Amino acid sequence: MQICRSTQAMRDWRQDAGRVALVPTMGALHPGHLSLVTRARDWLEAQGGGRVVTSIFVNPTQFGASEDLDKYPRSEAQDLDLLAGAGCDAVFLPQVADIYRPGAQTQVEVTGLGRMLMGRLRPGHFRGVATVVTKLFNIIQPQAAVFGEKDYQQLTLIRQMVADLDIPVQVLAGPTVRDADGLALSSRNQRLSPEDRVAAPVLARALDRAQAMVAQGTTPAALRRAIRTLLAAEPRGQIRSIDIRDAGDLSRVATLDRPVVILLAVRFGEVLLIDQRVAHP
Ligand code: PAF
Repeated sequence: MQICRSTQAMRDWRQDAGRVALVPTMGALHPGHLSLVTRARDWLEAQGGGRVVTSIFVNPTQFGASEDLDKYPRSEAQDLDLLAGAGCDAVFLPQVADIYRPGAQTQVEVTGLGRMLMGRLRPGHFRGVATVVTKLFNIIQPQAAVFGEKDYQQLTLIRQMVADLDIPVQVLAGPTVRDADGLALSSRNQRLSPEDRVAAPVLARALDRAQAMVAQGTTPAALRRAIRTLLAAEPRGQIRSIDIRDAGDLSRVATLDRPVVILLAVRFGEVLLIDQRVAHP
């Protein structure tokens, strides 16, 4: 597995790499990330072969002033072992100064999708995501890139950005990987206290119930009330948001007559957990 610690090293490796699928990450890898590597590998095999590149870059511009960038978990040696075991061909591990050079003036913003939902709770977050992903696409020039469905708004926003800017990258979605008790895997889970870790699967239970309600037929208001009641039964969690949106463009829905995505954000102590489920009527 090739390790590229600078933009130039990445570009040099890329020249003879042929078809490439990229898995962008911020490290602290878990089986959810490795399933994205597998998704990339499967896609490449279906195309006749190619190489998987994973980027590991804790992107400072997607952290707000009150969010602790320094506390973000970092585990480079373990990440590299996991990626080698998962069959990754190259890893891009740039320095901040390599990605954000002094004097840069350009940012990428997806104005609608980037300012709604989680974009309201975390102003500027999606501008940071869109900018770094554009830069990764330009440096690595992959034919495809894989993003987890768990960050559904991010996935939708990247799809929109790629379409709006005619970026020649196919965006692939990787399904959410869960622990046995339903908790969606996330680097944040390791910051949960033992008590909060026991409480956190309430998100998945609420989503299971919500999905069944949509299938049986209900209204957005009744669905939101039911989800709130289910989440409130676990007093350790503070509900930050419950959103029911069109699964395609995240617009508001007045009725549940088409696929919707249910997006939850619940805080446990200092840790904000998100989860989502697409539900079909
Ligand atoms: O999902 C993430 O880990 C990050 O937002 C991404 C896409 C790697 C951009 O920094």
